[in-house]
Amino acid sequence: MFNLENIVRPNVLKMKAYSSARDEFKGAASVFIDANENNLGSLAGERYNRYPDPHQKKLKKKIAEIKGVKPSQVFLGNGSDEAIDLLFRMVCRPGQDSMLHLPPTYGMYEVSANLNEVQLDAVQLTPEFQIPVLEVLRNVKDTTKLIFVCSPNNPTGNLIEAESIETLLDNFDGLVIVDEAYIDFADEPSWTTRLAEYPNLVVLQTFSKAWGMAGLRLGMAFASEEIIALLDKIKPPYNINEATQELALKALEQEEQLTYMIEEIVQEREMLVQALPTLDAVEKVYPSDANFLLVKVKEANRLYTYLLEQGIVVRNRSSLPGCEGCLRISIGTVDENQQLFQAISNFK
Ligand SMILES: Cc1ncc(COP(=O)(O)O)c(C=O)c1O
Repeated sequence: MFNLENIVRPNVLKMKAYSSARDEFKGAASVFIDANENNLGSLAGERYNRYPDPHQKKLKKKIAEIKGVKPSQVFLGNGSDEAIDLLFRMVCRPGQDSMLHLPPTYGMYEVSANLNEVQLDAVQLTPEFQIPVLEVLRNVKDTTKLIFVCSPNNPTGNLIEAESIETLLDNFDGLVIVDEAYIDFADEPSWTTRLAEYPNLVVLQTFSKAWGMAGLRLGMAFASEEIIALLDKIKPPYNINEATQELALKALEQEEQLTYMIEEIVQEREMLVQALPTLDAVEKVYPSDANFLLVKVKEANRLYTYLLEQGIVVRNRSSLPGCEGCLRISIGTVDENQQLFQAISNFK
């Protein structure tokens, strides 16, 4: 049976969160000389002399409305990479606990595990890039605290079958993290709709992909109120800066434009899915539910270098087990996709 208190690090349960100057003050005031800010102003523009809201109340409220969850079920991180790191720090005792991930997958799970001195167990995805569920469950140990599932998966692009994730959630007593960085490009509902069923589910999303805000660094974690309260307790107090909070609120007010951008990207993706396999250099294009394609080519390293010479940078994933001979290509603008197609068709 999953019990959050059993898996959270004892020092995290025991510790007190940092209490900021503004946390301690409640009421109305006109002179704020409690946080060692520069009250004369800021060289960067109005308001930036003040620390941002450490609880991101307005932003969480708006995100919660859009996502259909409570504000208390939303954690905001300096990119979802920060949420990944904090999940390790919340439950994994350095040098004692372990996590399990499913390569080929997003590289930061491994980096965060190494940084936090957490043992890394890996179960390779099947040739169809799905989870071999029984093998995963066989590899779970007493010390396994986290299982990372990336869906749609980076770099393979596909959604992971819902039944596999359900089986993990039902049979694993640690946290199952479903990383949905690319969910806006997929046709399936988010796992945020299943939070009430699974107390051990954490869903990650980001503003870096469909929302086009990678430069602002804003990631989201959705989970039970208890899990979110712990993440909030251990985060750096002012992890989301004022400019990011303001600009994200502005972006959320124009949510309908997101749909148009997603439609255009998905349309271009499907165009490339049809067009790329007609080229001699291309062996296979894997189906994608994301804003990139995994493309198996005849000579990955040579094509990669050739594209660089043409001024086109793609991601060479050919050395990753399971992705041999593959390049990962993000969907660009209509013009960029055309340039890519032309360049590969000229490759000899
Ligand atoms: C699967 C996945 N998760 C998380 C991230 C990191 O997102 P963020 O920019 O929010 O840190 C990425 C970035 O490429 C990703 O591919």
